[in-house]
Amino acid sequence: MNLTMLKMMAMISENLGCRWSRAFVAAATGIVCAALCGGCEKTAVKKEGDQPKTAAAPMPATATAQKLVVGFAQIGAESAWRTANTNSIKDEAAARGIDLRFSDAQNKQENQIRAIRSFIQQRVDVIAFAPVVETGWEPVLEEAKAANIPVVLTDREVDVQDQSLYVTFIGADFVEEGRRAAEWLANKTGGKAMIAELQGTPGAAPAIDRKKGFEEALAKHPGMKIIKSQAGDFNRAKGKEVYESFLRSPEGPQITAVFAHNDDMAIGAIQAMQESGVKPGSQVLVVSIDGIRDAFQAILDGSANCTVECNPLIGPLLFDTVEKIRGGETIPKRIQTPGDVFDAGNVTAEVIKQRKY
Ligand code: AHR
Repeated sequence: MNLTMLKMMAMISENLGCRWSRAFVAAATGIVCAALCGGCEKTAVKKEGDQPKTAAAPMPATATAQKLVVGFAQIGAESAWRTANTNSIKDEAAARGIDLRFSDAQNKQENQIRAIRSFIQQRVDVIAFAPVVETGWEPVLEEAKAANIPVVLTDREVDVQDQSLYVTFIGADFVEEGRRAAEWLANKTGGKAMIAELQGTPGAAPAIDRKKGFEEALAKHPGMKIIKSQAGDFNRAKGKEVYESFLRSPEGPQITAVFAHNDDMAIGAIQAMQESGVKPGSQVLVVSIDGIRDAFQAILDGSANCTVECNPLIGPLLFDTVEKIRGGETIPKRIQTPGDVFDAGNVTAEVIKQRKY
């Protein structure tokens, strides 16, 4: 009889969409349990230090009812970086027993907006997303705000006037990544290079900011010029296709360096060069951003030269932040992830073995 009552409470809780209803059922279940256990366990007596013990072991129904529900709207699976990012978020949610509602937008902003609206309807506790592009988010973020659901931006920022539309941004400094790539190239070439640039998705924060940082640093080196530039959408196949068109263009033979906004496009460019008899890594230097295992391997093989690390493994940081938000803690507006610069000087087979992505 007692067990049946607890099971019923858990079932009601699981089927209710509203988080306040879930909280109500959780509280009610706790009261029932406390009443049932009152005569048999010392821990049921209200003593401050005993509280966690009382709540944990004997009340699985309560634990289920209090499960944190997080909606995550991912961009897609355009790169190895993105796959590592998705895995980090899913694995960490599973490890913490968080109910993760995950949506893949297949690189379309309208799909991400639809997913966020669905999370609002589901009354999730927190919404997190990696915005595919920077602009156009105000209406849906205002809806989340009106529904009192906190929003966390991961990986990419949005361009909005009202900063109260999101709690915090967790990710890297893309402008600095672009700067570091240019500085590496300037050091390596003595400030002389004819550069082909493979840009990320048009309108995406890393495409805008990495270009900005790269050009900022380039301005100090009049001997370094971007002679070709086109979007490869952070995608390996598209990077290859665009680089093939660079090679066919009149400027093709003048290219001495490639700056790709991510490693996948750099790998595509390397393949294009290899297929057309150009030697990547020596004849044409290759610099990119992310730090995926394939880029490390290419550096070790000599077909790539430098990768600026951008860490995708932000699952633990994301859910630490989500739990702090739930606990009412004050969160900084920007939480920056660190990254190193890798080239032939610090990439070894041993280092590659230790890479997690
Ligand atoms: O936003 C981070 C960028 O997006 C990564 O550099 C790229 O690989 C990904 O697709």
